[in-house]
Amino acid sequence: METIALTRGVPADEALPYARISESLAGALQKNYTVILQYGNIGGYPLLRQFVAEQYKVSPQEILIGNGSLHLQDLFSATVIKPGDTVLVEQPSYDRAIKTFRRRGAKVYGIPLQGDGIDLDLLETELKRQVPAFLYLVPDFQNPTGISTSFEKRQALVALAEKYNFWIIEDVPYRTLRYRGEAIPLLRDIDPKHIVTMSSYSKLISPALRVGYMVAPAELIAKVTRLAEETILSPVLPTQAVVAEFIQRGWLDENVASLKKLYEPRMDAMVNSIRKFLPGVEFTAPEGGFFVSITLPESANYANLLERAQAAKLGLTDGKTFFADNLGDAPVDSSRDRFIRLPFCAITPAQIEEGVSRLASLVK
Ligand SMILES: Cc1ncc(COP(=O)(O)O)c(C=O)c1O
Repeated sequence: METIALTRGVPADEALPYARISESLAGALQKNYTVILQYGNIGGYPLLRQFVAEQYKVSPQEILIGNGSLHLQDLFSATVIKPGDTVLVEQPSYDRAIKTFRRRGAKVYGIPLQGDGIDLDLLETELKRQVPAFLYLVPDFQNPTGISTSFEKRQALVALAEKYNFWIIEDVPYRTLRYRGEAIPLLRDIDPKHIVTMSSYSKLISPALRVGYMVAPAELIAKVTRLAEETILSPVLPTQAVVAEFIQRGWLDENVASLKKLYEPRMDAMVNSIRKFLPGVEFTAPEGGFFVSITLPESANYANLLERAQAAKLGLTDGKTFFADNLGDAPVDSSRDRFIRLPFCAITPAQIEEGVSRLASLVK
């Protein structure tokens, strides 16, 4: 029996554009090798900084290119988190972000995520108690749930950041991978004053290039850039130049179009398989991205699920890793033990159907 990994929140291997990456590197080096192979301007490869600045309609001084967005989350955290600070996240949230904020000394609390974004009432109650160093959000096709924050909630979040004066990170690596429906404006499009936007080319070209970026007010970018310089000395210009060349040749748009064609049927296969094999299970159907998540009912057989799944050749991620501390020391209930993230991009529709069917028989 074939092993099915419902753990892989990664791009599909068959979608990695290796020939075009190779051509982009050769093309960029030919044009500009004395810059690309030298210690360089720490804000990033100038042409890529310029492209990102044009995309977000800001100046290059408001852009820092880093080694993926997780790297930038870490540098940002090290810059702004002070002893005793809290960081707020959606509950559940991206597991590595939670770990990064904790490692940099923050107490990380989760505000429950609803089908249209974070619970605003609970957020404001918490803001009245303590203003966090920042609020971390993944407003488009969230990792792990696939949920997107509604326009109304985005407006309210921007207004809360202004009223209580804190940063919001909007981390949007999946935003471009919308398979249906209309794009919702970024928080920065509503008002950029308190917003730090992060994203990367990991899901759009290749994660191993390690090219991500941060968009924020120039003063904050300058601080984070100083820390980047002290930490890594010089940006990884060859891969940043690959991305710039890839964009300049018009290949990014083509790549995104082919990714959408590959991933949309996989998303549909996942949603349809959940409805077919796990009827009545709680979940929000996404309109893009890599993930959907389910919460099993209390009556489900979820004890030792990961071990039993492994024995049935089914890979599952521990759902608890996506949860931060509960607000106000509220007791932890079993919902985090019943939470399962189901990534759908790196496996075929047939594997998705087989995987969900195996999962359904394990939790009966
Ligand atoms: C929400 C989110 N942010 C950031 C990252 C990190 O991406 P990278 O550092 O490759 O840009 C991921 C990766 O899965 C993610 O899901």
